[in-house]
Amino acid sequence: MKFIFLSLVPLLSGLTSTTAIAVENEYVPAGASITVARPSLFSRLHSSDANKKKKDNWGNAVERDRKKITIRSSKHDRDDISDDFLWALKKANHGGLVHLEKRKKYVIGKKLDLTFLKDVYVRLDGELKFTNDIEYWQANNFYYDFQKSITFWVWGGKDIKIYGSGIINGNGQAWWDGFSGASILDPNNEYYRPILFLTDNATNIEVKGLHLKDSPCWTTFFVRTKNIIFDDIYIDAVSTNVSSLPKNTDGFDSLNVDGVTVTNTRVNVGDDCFSAKPNTTNIFLKNLWCNGTHGVSMGSVGQYSGVKDYISNAWIENVTLINGENGARLKAWAGPSAGYGFMDNITYKDIFIENTDNPIVLDQCYFNINETICAAYPSKVDITNVNFLNIRGSSSGKEGRVVADLTCSPGSTCSGIHLEDINITSPAGSPSLIVCDDAVGDIGVACIPRSEVKD
Ligand SMILES: *[C@@H]1O[C@H](CO)[C@@H](O)[C@H](O)[C@H]1NC(C)=O
Ligand SMILES: *[C@@H]1O[C@H](CO)[C@@H](O)[C@H](O)[C@H]1NC(C)=O
Ligand SMILES: *[C@@H]1O[C@H](CO)[C@@H](O)[C@H](O)[C@H]1NC(C)=O
Ligand SMILES: *[C@@H]1O[C@H](CO)[C@@H](O)[C@H](O)[C@H]1NC(C)=O
Ligand SMILES: *[C@@H]1O[C@H](CO)[C@@H](O)[C@H](O)[C@H]1NC(C)=O
Ligand SMILES: *[C@@H]1O[C@H](CO)[C@@H](O)[C@H](O)[C@H]1NC(C)=O
Ligand SMILES: *[C@@H]1O[C@H](CO)[C@@H](O)[C@H](O)[C@H]1NC(C)=O
Ligand SMILES: *[C@@H]1O[C@H](CO)[C@@H](O)[C@H](O)[C@H]1NC(C)=O
Repeated sequence: MKFIFLSLVPLLSGLTSTTAIAVENEYVPAGASITVARPSLFSRLHSSDANKKKKDNWGNAVERDRKKITIRSSKHDRDDISDDFLWALKKANHGGLVHLEKRKKYVIGKKLDLTFLKDVYVRLDGELKFTNDIEYWQANNFYYDFQKSITFWVWGGKDIKIYGSGIINGNGQAWWDGFSGASILDPNNEYYRPILFLTDNATNIEVKGLHLKDSPCWTTFFVRTKNIIFDDIYIDAVSTNVSSLPKNTDGFDSLNVDGVTVTNTRVNVGDDCFSAKPNTTNIFLKNLWCNGTHGVSMGSVGQYSGVKDYISNAWIENVTLINGENGARLKAWAGPSAGYGFMDNITYKDIFIENTDNPIVLDQCYFNINETICAAYPSKVDITNVNFLNIRGSSSGKEGRVVADLTCSPGSTCSGIHLEDINITSPAGSPSLIVCDDAVGDIGVACIPRSEVKD
């Protein structure tokens, strides 16, 4: 218990003396501290500058002008500090900063509702690590209907910056071991695994410099979010157990998001590098490196019957994709129970692809349906204005000489599909082939129907 005394300048005219009163009988957890920002020497010397303090991109105080909160760190992997962390965020809310220090570990063992935030910084230089108490987390989490997702915590509100040289560690190994052999798309699967970082109902989020490590399931998921920026991030999920590899550890997923930017980021996971899910608009990706992934995907969209989905205005530039299943991919569902919608104005530019099974994919007959079924129940997702510009490198040869596969739906619009400067070789022989079907129209490069592929 601590008493905090504040010197108050007189609030009412007429009061002449400065009064010191105990404003709060305030709880401060053991090992925590609050440091109030002092005006810098410079601004004290130049009092006119004190009135126009430096602001961040959102018009809020910069780091040095913020009240700083620290908390005790964990002594071991079961020493849960989630109450302290929650306390710190409440204290730092509205203009403060929580600092998690270098070489210190902070273990989170309880689910956290962090949707109340407004103008807060978290400087993470240490490690935030989740417990791997599977029983606890499967009973205590935040659940999303979309692909039956759960998460440890939800970040929401406005103007949230999380940055530093630290790590958010999902401690995924036990989860992957437990999930081994199961499938997330199996309707009977009930072994849910948490997403490492999730925003919901959030505006203006910036995450910078961090290492997001070993997520049990998707690494990030943005829901109902506006303007989210990830810069200078490293994401990986690496198993130490050969019989249970990380699964579904997507780098980035989004749902009902307007404005998502990912730059200068490396992703080393066995699933999607970036995957815009339904209703994502204004996507900007630049300078990404993705190893062993399922590619940078738009979609899948149109999965749920009667539901309208869309993705529009995506710019994807300077991305390296190596050792993956897919490179640049668009996917829309067809079949008797599919939904509808559109994808419009998507550009992939300057993409380098190496040792990848399907370097370029446009699939309007997703998921796993054959031509007959796709023709009988074609996709109701319109795909328009898609550019693949300067895509080079090599395939793995798994699909023979085919390096690009474009399947449009006969049942909806598929127009303005344009390829230019494509140079992808295949170890299976040359020339490499671009496969397209009748519905695709003139795509700017020579292509052949699937039925003419001999090898
Ligand atoms: C979203 O957040 C705002 C405040 O930022 C709140 O007023 C609103 O109720 C929240 N909406 C939902 C659906 O959670
Ligand atoms: C590796 O994963 C398998 C499959 O889940 C599991 O049976 C085994 O116990 C794990 N090995 C170790 C050393 O944890
Ligand atoms: C392209 O991205 C890579 C990271 O994958 C970066 O090293 C390189 O500088 C970028 N190139 C340009 C022209 O920005
Ligand atoms: C790419 O991923 C593979 C498979 O996980 C791994 O063996 C390899 O070391 C990774 N390459 C780099 C440069 O990280
Ligand atoms: C996408 O937005 C539309 C409204 O434009 C909404 O009806 C639909 O449910 C949303 N899709 C998803 C998957 O949330
Ligand atoms: C297409 O998307 C880009 C961003 O990638 C945007 O600048 C442009 O205005 C969009 N075009 C249309 C017609 O909306
Ligand atoms: C296509 O799939 C349907 C349903 O799985 C199956 O009945 C049909 O035989 C398949 N047709 C071809 C040509 O493979
Ligand atoms: C295509 O790339 C290969 C190397 O990957 C290069 O040898 C060849 O000259 C390129 N072709 C064109 C037309 O640029």
